[in-house]
Amino acid sequence: MSDLAPIQPSPDAVLSCTGVRRSFPVGDRRLAILHGINLELCAGERLALMGTSGAGKTTLLNILGLLDRPTEGSVTVAGMDAWALSARRRANLRNEKIGFVFQFYHLLPELSALENAVLPAMIKLSRGAYRSGRSAFMDRATDMLTRFGLADRLGHRPSQLSGGEQQRIAIARALLLDPPILIADEPTGNLDRATGERVLEILLDEQSERGVALMLVTHDERLAKRCERVLYMEDGLIQADSSAPMPT
Ligand SMILES: Nc1ncnc2c1ncn2[C@@H]1O[C@H](COP(=O)(O)OP(=O)(O)O)[C@@H](O)[C@H]1O
Ligand SMILES: [Mg+2]
Repeated sequence: MSDLAPIQPSPDAVLSCTGVRRSFPVGDRRLAILHGINLELCAGERLALMGTSGAGKTTLLNILGLLDRPTEGSVTVAGMDAWALSARRRANLRNEKIGFVFQFYHLLPELSALENAVLPAMIKLSRGAYRSGRSAFMDRATDMLTRFGLADRLGHRPSQLSGGEQQRIAIARALLLDPPILIADEPTGNLDRATGERVLEILLDEQSERGVALMLVTHDERLAKRCERVLYMEDGLIQADSSAPMPT
């Protein structure tokens, strides 16, 4: 199937994009990076995205995670056409439906580990509702961080924590509101091998226990083999999906 052919999103898709292009202004020209991407992520599935550096993986993930707007094309999250919504509704959709784990964690430096993990609840709830609902979310974040081996790090700031610890907090933050979609952009790319493996086990365990759909960018073939579907990206296009059934 050509990447440029229109697709009908399947009813199982929790996240999809159609005809996505992205270009960036460079001087007085525009540099085209994504050339028309059609993709869908089904509920609960584990999808790996691979490809050489510079292929456009991060650009695509940022678009799927509603952190960046495509130059052309649409992104549908939990049945909603994200860019047809107001900025406020889109921000709520992103906060509730998508957990994002970045290569470089992106924790807020002035907040503690526990406060970072509970941040999506602070954003979701109004100030009054947060005051009354706060302790339930604090408990939930504490439970998760404890499960991730961070029980004695709850009050630490990110600068007092190792990379692996920071990434475990970022995973807890991504899962706090039980989103149906988890997007992870080389989540172990900045960690040593042993630490990376520990973080990955946490990520994959939580993914399968919760049945959250995972889209994972990785360079690790062994990890890709643990995913149900592997897509390869090259020069701003998804190559043929070798795991999809052949047309008859
Ligand atoms: N804001 C930007 N402005 C100009 N070029 C960009 C911008 N963001 C990314 N690019 C370019 O897009 C290409 C793809 O980048 P990226 O999506 O980060 O690739 P990958 O994650 O696959 O390594 C790179 O050539 C990069 O330089
Ligand atoms: Mg990248």
